Amino acid sequence: MGLAACDKLKTNGAKIQFIELDLLKPETIEKAAATVEQEYGRLDILINNAGIIDSEDGLPSKTAINAVEKAMATNFVGQLRVTQAMLPLLKQSKEASVVNVSSGLGSLKLNGEENTPYSEVKFLGYSASKAALNIMTVHFAYELRNTPIKVNSVCPGYTATDLNNNQGTQTIEEGAIETVRLALIGSDGPNGKYSDRHGSMPW
Ligand SMILES: NC(=O)c1ccc[n+]([C@@H]2O[C@H](COP(=O)([O-])OP(=O)(O)OC[C@H]3O[C@@H](n4cnc5c(N)ncnc54)[C@H](OP(=O)(O)O)[C@@H]3O)[C@@H](O)[C@H]2O)c1
Repeated sequence: MGLAACDKLKTNGAKIQFIELDLLKPETIEKAAATVEQEYGRLDILINNAGIIDSEDGLPSKTAINAVEKAMATNFVGQLRVTQAMLPLLKQSKEASVVNVSSGLGSLKLNGEENTPYSEVKFLGYSASKAALNIMTVHFAYELRNTPIKVNSVCPGYTATDLNNNQGTQTIEEGAIETVRLALIGSDGPNGKYSDRHGSMPW
C-alpha cells in the first residue's frame, strides 16, 4: 500500500522515498531512522499519523483487554518509540515540527461533557491511547521548549477513511488541513498545543 501511494505521488512530480515501518516491530523503526540518517542526515517533519481502532474495543465493561493493549501499543507506545528514534534527526533540522495525530475521542473534557459529538462514542482502548498521545505531546513540548522543535497534537475530525468504514463526514483533504498546517509551522509556531481545523481543542 505504501509503495502504491509512493508511485501515485511520483506521477504528480513529488520527490519521494518509501521506507517501511511497523509500529509494532521496533527493529523496523530503528531501521527507518538509520535509513533517514544515512540518506538525508536530518528530519524536518515527523507526522505520527498511523493509528488503529480494534474491532473488539468498546465500553469499559466489555472491551477486550487485548484490544486495549493493541491500541496502546500502536497509537501510543509505537509513536513514542518512533519519536525517540527520530529525535536525533529532528535536532539536526533548523526548525522541525512533530505532529501527533490524536482525536477528540482522546479529550478528557469532550468525553466527560454531555451533548458533544464525542461523548456518545466509547472505545476505551482507542480513547485511552489518544489521551496518552496527548500527554506525550505536552511532555515532549516541555522537554524541547528551548529548541527549534515544535510538538503539537491535532484532531483531524470525523473523516471518511478505512478507520470508520468511510462513514466520516469530512473528506480526506479536509481531515488533513490542520495536520499540514502544523507540519509547516516555523520555529516561532505553537508548541504543546492541541487543535483541529476550526481552532483550539480542549485536552
Ligand atoms: N478518520 C477519522 O475520522 C479520524 C478521526 C480522528 C482521528 N483520526 C486519526 O487519524 C489517523 C489516521 O487515521 P485514518 O482515518 O487515515 O485511518 P486509516 O485509513 O485506517 O489509516 C490508518 C493508517 O495507520 C497505519 N497503521 C496501522 N497500524 C500500523 C502499524 N502497526 N504500523 C504502521 N502503520 C500502521 C495504516 O497502515 P496500513 O494501511 O499499511 O495498514 C494506515 O496507513 C489515526 O491516528 C486516527 O486515529 C482519524
